[in-house]
Amino acid sequence: MCSIIGYCGSREAAPILVKGLKRMEYRGYDSAGVATENENEIQVRKGTGRVSDVNSNVKLDDLSGKSGIGHTRWATHGKVTDLNAHPHTSNSGKIAIVHNGTIENFEELKRHLESEGYSFKSETDSEVIANLLQKNYETTKDVTKTLRKTVSELQGHYAFVAMFENGQLTAARSREPLIIGVGRDDLFLSSDVLGFIEYTDEAIYVKNKNFVILEKGKFEIFNYDGKHVEGKPTKVSKEFGDVYKDHYAYFTLKEIHEQPETILKAGEKALDEIKSASDYIRDAKNIYITGSGTSYNAALIAKQILSKYAKIKAEPIMASELQFSPDIIEKNSVLISISQSGETADVLDAVKIAKEANCKIIAIVNPLTSSLAREADVTIGMNCGPEIGVVATKSFTSQLVILYKIAQKLNGGNLEIDFRQTSESISKILKDSKNIQQTAGKLKGISDIYVLGSGIHWPIAIEASLKLKELTYIHAEGIPSGELKHGPLALIDDNVFVIIINPNDPTYEGTLTSARKIKSRSGAKIIGISDVKSDLYDYRIEIPKMSESQFPILEIIPIQLLSYYIAREKDTDPDYPRNLAKSITVK
Ligand code: G6P
Repeated sequence: MCSIIGYCGSREAAPILVKGLKRMEYRGYDSAGVATENENEIQVRKGTGRVSDVNSNVKLDDLSGKSGIGHTRWATHGKVTDLNAHPHTSNSGKIAIVHNGTIENFEELKRHLESEGYSFKSETDSEVIANLLQKNYETTKDVTKTLRKTVSELQGHYAFVAMFENGQLTAARSREPLIIGVGRDDLFLSSDVLGFIEYTDEAIYVKNKNFVILEKGKFEIFNYDGKHVEGKPTKVSKEFGDVYKDHYAYFTLKEIHEQPETILKAGEKALDEIKSASDYIRDAKNIYITGSGTSYNAALIAKQILSKYAKIKAEPIMASELQFSPDIIEKNSVLISISQSGETADVLDAVKIAKEANCKIIAIVNPLTSSLAREADVTIGMNCGPEIGVVATKSFTSQLVILYKIAQKLNGGNLEIDFRQTSESISKILKDSKNIQQTAGKLKGISDIYVLGSGIHWPIAIEASLKLKELTYIHAEGIPSGELKHGPLALIDDNVFVIIINPNDPTYEGTLTSARKIKSRSGAKIIGISDVKSDLYDYRIEIPKMSESQFPILEIIPIQLLSYYIAREKDTDPDYPRNLAKSITVK
């Protein structure tokens, strides 16, 4: 998964493109590149590494020209090499493209183009787009006809921006995001509003299977049948352009520290939406909850919240798995889809399957302009501002707050939660980060961490293990406390650390019993996350005493911090963990 950007206007393109790419790096950060047009000639600079490294090495922002395209890569077809980095040019050098997504029939297209004398420099599927455009342009001599013919030949999920040798930009979208930014004297094409938010907040979300032609400061949109389509501008929230680290060393740390405020904004001003969501849930035949990664872990917690507080049964389904058993979804049900970005391909596919079964879609999402928000019957905004760190932190706690608010609505006001108090308790945990930082120092050299929790704390243990994997590269597993004796105990020896999530609630004694088993059979070290002391803990991370409903929101915070500090101890980049990307818009 990658980010694509295009600019044409009255200013030098390259510095604008580089800035936009830096903001969209969360989408992929293996390689970066820029191409500009100057006096009818296309120049390309690119390389492997983060945008700022590639820029220092090859001076991307020194390229001249008022029209250009740019890319950050998350490798899917071909290794991370300079040659595989985008932009790719066609054989004539007269067309350059940047692409996000997958061209499913690229091998067939490539063979065909090769038989006609075209050659390929990279291992990517993307390069076929450049040569296909060249071939079709040489036959049609018309940019619109070229685009229409080219998209009719491509199969897959993709968005691309192409630049012709006169600097004219075009773009197409098939199930990958593509947004037009409309400035006063400039036009942008981008995977995310973050690519251009500094210059304009007027955005047009290009519909699926539409293509765009920019010419002389104007844009035209067509569907894949060649029919003209109206582009509706939307004002995007400037807040989504606020992506600075302030005094924090990393976005991840900043985002962890934002949680006392962000949990208070979750679902704010969405009383009507929360009411509609609970009405849909009440009337539905069945309730399913889906998401990927951290958002799926929120779905696991949702099941527990809805059954405990609203007496409603809901089935969590991993978004990437639904395609293999679509029959799970019964007609006239409700799918609650949880996604920070609202662009995760697996989640959007799950929504498609549910819609085909006539289900209502409730979206819990951060950007209200995302694809998921546009597909949903009712959307509840997390309002937590841009989350740039690849590892989800503040979005998770915002998702939990919204789920609690839905449960509150469903149980008719009998579930009281003082979110202000939760917010203050998060602040307390954050203030105590010295202790967590010291504990992190003990874990940096170990190879396995097990996280135990029961009841609602089990999905938190799973989410905790995900944070540890993503940020520290240490093998970590979330295990229900009671299951330890049924197998995982065999793995516990003196070299492992076990984190037990153990607040003083009905799960407390059971989890402590598992801790005892660990202590009596091994020298494994135990970190207790709890509001009460115990001799069984080698290290304790204190969480404030709270009502039961507030614990899940609180107990993930020390683990986010612990994972962050272990990453720093190991000198890895917490914002951009290896091999990952924030928003996976490909299958
Ligand atoms: C990627 C990210 C995860 C995230 C998941 C779902 O895999 O690396 O951190 O949890 O996508 O993202 P979403 O935007 O749908 O919540």
